[in-house]
Amino acid sequence: MIEWLRPQYPAPYPLVVVVSGRKPNPSTYIFFGQFNEHPPVVGIGIKEKRHTYRMIKETGDFSVNFVDPPMLRRADAAGLLSGRRHDKSDLFRWEPSSTINSPRIADAPLSLEVVYLEEVKFTDHILILGEVRKAWAREGATPEDFVVSSYSSMGYFSVGKKLERWGFSGGKP
Ligand SMILES: Cc1cc2nc3c(=O)[nH]c(=O)nc-3n(C[C@H](O)[C@H](O)[C@H](O)COP(=O)(O)O)c2cc1C
Repeated sequence: MIEWLRPQYPAPYPLVVVVSGRKPNPSTYIFFGQFNEHPPVVGIGIKEKRHTYRMIKETGDFSVNFVDPPMLRRADAAGLLSGRRHDKSDLFRWEPSSTINSPRIADAPLSLEVVYLEEVKFTDHILILGEVRKAWAREGATPEDFVVSSYSSMGYFSVGKKLERWGFSGGKP
């Protein structure tokens, strides 16, 4: 083993596009996770200067849209341009959400409608926690439809080969 000295780890996370505000302003996040089951609670790590952060605080909600390979180029662009200076509303096709005001991406393999709960400030990112009020899966979506990445120069990957089902060991190592 070698000691890993970079503050971002080479482990994959799902790539998501977060949208907040009535006029959609999509931007891309790799610091994303789920932390509770009933109700589902998700979190994103976001810098305070992001336009998205301001919109989430203003509106109290946001959608989380998982990225598939056909969306990748637009998701990459959404992560390079800020809504402070650019209108990003024509990057995706939109669908109104049913439980929140922010819209969701119409053709994402999975979209979550999320209501802001609370936040924890760290030194360079803020962890925003939100409760998922509704989740939409595209019919026929499979694990290969999801793009994963890490916040580093590792690049973008699609989810690969399934190794086994959960619990397959039956507790026998
Ligand atoms: C692949 C990728 C992942 C990103 N992940 C994050 C992240 O986890 N947290 C964050 O604050 N910014 C992240 N960014 C940067 C924002 O997406 C970027 O600054 C964007 O322009 C913010 O847009 P906004 O100002 O309209 O909110 C990422 C960018 C890319 C390309």
